[in-house]
Amino acid sequence: MIEWPKGEVVRVAVALAIMANLFLVPLTGHGEDQAPPDTTGKADPTASEKKPTAAPEYVGSGSCKNCHKGHSKDWKVNPHRNISEMANRSLARDCESCHGPASLHLEAGGGATGIINPLKTSGQAINSMCLSCHAQGSLMEAKGSLHLTHESNCLTCHAIHNNHQERLLKKPQTQLCQDCHALQVAETKLFSRHPIREGHMQCSQCHNPHGAKEKMLIRNTVNQLCTKCHNQQVGPFTFDHPPVSESCLTCHKAHGSQIRGLLEARVPVLCLRCHGNTSFTHDQSQPNKHKCLDCHESIHGSNFESRFFR
Ligand code: HEC
Ligand code: HEC
Ligand code: HEC
Ligand code: HEC
Ligand code: HEC
Ligand code: HEC
Ligand code: HEC
Ligand code: HEC
Ligand code: HEC
Ligand code: HEC
Repeated sequence: MIEWPKGEVVRVAVALAIMANLFLVPLTGHGEDQAPPDTTGKADPTASEKKPTAAPEYVGSGSCKNCHKGHSKDWKVNPHRNISEMANRSLARDCESCHGPASLHLEAGGGATGIINPLKTSGQAINSMCLSCHAQGSLMEAKGSLHLTHESNCLTCHAIHNNHQERLLKKPQTQLCQDCHALQVAETKLFSRHPIREGHMQCSQCHNPHGAKEKMLIRNTVNQLCTKCHNQQVGPFTFDHPPVSESCLTCHKAHGSQIRGLLEARVPVLCLRCHGNTSFTHDQSQPNKHKCLDCHESIHGSNFESRFFR
C-alpha cells in the first residue's frame, strides 16, 4: 500500500496542474503566449468558443460511470481502486487523480474537452504524474533512467485500464521486451538458456526496467545477482578459483548460449584462455587431457582440494 508523505501531496497537485494547464489552454483562451498544448489536436474545435467561466473543479468519480460504464465497472478489479484507501483521504480522487478535475468535462457533456487523457500529453508529463505516487520501491532509480528518456515513458509499457494483464502491462512481459530487444529474447531460445521461454523466469527478475544503480539495468552487481539463485557456486571456499569471485560472466552468458552450461566458450578453449601453459605440466599421454572438468570437477572452488578435483 502506498503511503503518502506530505510532500507527495503537493507534487501530485503540481503535476496535475501542469497537465491540466497544458490541456486546458485552448479552453480558457488565456494561452496565446504559451506553447501550444501537447495534444494531437483532437480537442473539440468549438471548445474555445464555450469559454467556461470557472476553473475546473473536482467532481468525484460518481458521475463517470453514467457515460463510461466499461471503465467504471472494470475499476473494481484495478489495483488503482486502492487510491481511495491511501493514507491521505483528501487525495482520494479516484478517476480524477490521473484525469484531472472534471467539472468542465461534465459541463461540456463529455468528449475530449475538459479532461486529461494522459496518452495525449508529453512523455515527461506522464512520467512525473505517475511518479508523483510511485517514486518509491522499484522506481527509486527511475528519474532519467534509460527507459524513461529515449522517447519511452510509463505508458510505453503500462496501460492503466488493462486489468487483465499482470502489473497492468500492455502485453505479456517477454513480448513487451521483445518489441525492442529482439536479440536478447532470441538468445533465450538457444540450446542452453535461462528458462524464460518456458515461462519459469522473467526478464525483470534480473533487470529492473525502471532503472538501476548498476549498468545494463541489472538489479545488483553481477555476482550478487547470480548467486541469489545459485548459492552453491559462490564461496568463500578454502580454495577459490579467482575468476569466479570476479564475475560469473567471465565464463557464462546471461541469457543463452549454444554451449552446454550457458558457457561463454567450450571447454577446454575457455580454460586455455587463462591456462594456456597447462598442457606442458599435464601428462601429454593422457587421452582425455582436454576434458578438464573430468578431473577438475569443482570448478567454482573447493573446500578440500586446491586443484578443484572435488
Ligand atoms: C492511475 C491513473 C488513472 C486513473 C486513476 C484512471 N485512469 Fe483512465 N486513463 C489513464 C490512462 C493512462 C489512460 C490512457 C490509456 C491507457 O493507458 O489505458 C486512460 C484513459 C481513459 C479513457 C479514454 C479511453 C481509453 O481507454 O483510451 C477513459 C474514458 C478513462 N480513462 C476513464 C477513466 C475512469 C472513468 C476512471 C475512474 C473509474 C479512470 N479513467 C481512472 C489513467 C488513469
Ligand atoms: C455526460 C457523459 C460523460 C460523463 C459524465 C463523463 N464523460 Fe468522459 N467522455 C464522454 C464522452 C462522450 C467522451 C468522448 C468519447 C470517448 O472517448 O469515450 C469522453 C471522453 C473521456 C476521456 C477521453 C478524453 C480524450 O481526450 O481521449 C476521458 C479520460 C474521460 N472521458 C474521463 C471521464 C471521467 C474521469 C469522468 C468522471 C469524472 C467522465 N469522463 C465523465 C462523456 C462523459
Ligand atoms: C494518485 C496516486 C497514483 C497515481 C497518480 C498513479 N498510481 Fe499507480 N498505483 C497507485 C496505488 C495506490 C496503487 C496500488 C498499490 C498497492 O495496492 O500497493 C497503484 C498501483 C500501480 C501498479 C501496480 C499494479 C500491480 O499489480 O501491483 C502499476 C503498474 C501502476 N500503479 C502504474 C501507474 C502508472 C503507469 C501511472 C501513471 C499513468 C500511475 N500508476 C499513476 C497510485 C497511483
Ligand atoms: C520498459 C518497460 C517499462 C516502463 C517504461 C515502465 N515500467 Fe513499470 N513495470 C514494467 C514491468 C516489466 C513490471 C513488472 C516487474 C516485475 O514483475 O517485477 C513493472 C512493474 C511496475 C509496478 C509494480 C510494482 C513494482 O515495483 O514492480 C509499478 C507500480 C510500475 N511498474 C510503475 C511504473 C511507472 C510509474 C513507470 C513510469 C515512471 C513505469 N512503471 C515504467 C515495465 C515498465
Ligand atoms: C519501446 C522500446 C523498449 C521496450 C518495450 C523495452 N526497452 Fe529496454 N531499452 C530500450 C531503449 C531505447 C534502451 C536504451 C539503450 C539502447 O539504445 O539500447 C533500452 C535499454 C535497456 C537495457 C540496458 C541496455 C544497455 O545497453 O545498457 C536493458 C537491460 C533493457 N532495456 C531491458 C528491457 C526489458 C527487460 C524490457 C521489458 C520489460 C525492455 N527493455 C523493454 C527500449 C525498450
Ligand atoms: C539471469 C539474469 C538475466 C535475465 C533473466 C535476463 N537478463 Fe538481460 N542481462 C543480464 C546481464 C547480467 C546482462 C549484462 C551482460 C553483460 O554485461 O555482458 C544483461 C544484458 C542485457 C541487455 C544489454 C545487452 C547489451 O549487450 O547491450 C539487454 C538489452 C537485456 N539484457 C535484455 C534482456 C531481456 C529482454 C530479457 C528477457 C528476455 C533479459 N535480458 C533477461 C541478465 C539477465
Ligand atoms: C531468478 C533466479 C536466477 C538468477 C538471478 C540467475 N539464474 Fe541461472 N538459472 C536459474 C534457473 C531457474 C535455471 C534453470 C535450472 C534448471 O533448469 O535446472 C538456471 C540455470 C543456470 C545455469 C545452468 C544452465 C544449464 O544449461 O545447465 C547456469 C550456468 C546459470 N543459470 C548461470 C547464471 C548466471 C551466470 C547468472 C547471473 C548472470 C544467473 N544464472 C542468474 C535461475 C536464476
Ligand atoms: C572459470 C569459469 C567459470 C566461472 C567464472 C563461473 N563458472 Fe559456473 N560453470 C563453469 C563450468 C565450466 C561449468 C560446467 C558447465 C557444464 O556443465 O559443462 C559451470 C556450471 C555452472 C552451473 C550449472 C550447475 C553446475 O554447477 O554445474 C551454474 C548454476 C553455474 N556454473 C553458476 C555460476 C555462477 C553463479 C558463477 C559466479 C558466482 C559462475 N558459475 C562462475 C565455469 C565457470
Ligand atoms: C579468466 C581466467 C581463467 C579462466 C577462464 C579459468 N581459470 Fe583457472 N585459474 C585462474 C587463476 C587466476 C587461477 C589462480 C592460480 C593461478 O594463478 O594459476 C586459477 C586456478 C586454477 C586451478 C588451480 C591451480 C593451482 O595451481 O592450484 C585449476 C585446476 C584451474 N584454474 C582450472 C581451470 C579450468 C579447468 C578452467 C576451465 C573450466 C579454468 N581454470 C578457467 C584463471 C582462470
Ligand atoms: C586426467 C585428469 C586431468 C585432466 C583431464 C586435466 N587435468 Fe589439470 N591437473 C590434473 C592433475 C593431476 C594436476 C596436478 C598436477 C601436478 O600436481 O603436477 C593438474 C593441475 C592443473 C593445474 C594447476 C597448475 C599446473 O599446471 O600444475 C591447472 C591450471 C590445470 N590442471 C588445468 C587444467 C586444464 C585447463 C585442463 C583441460 C585442458 C586440465 N587441467 C585437464 C589432472 C587433470
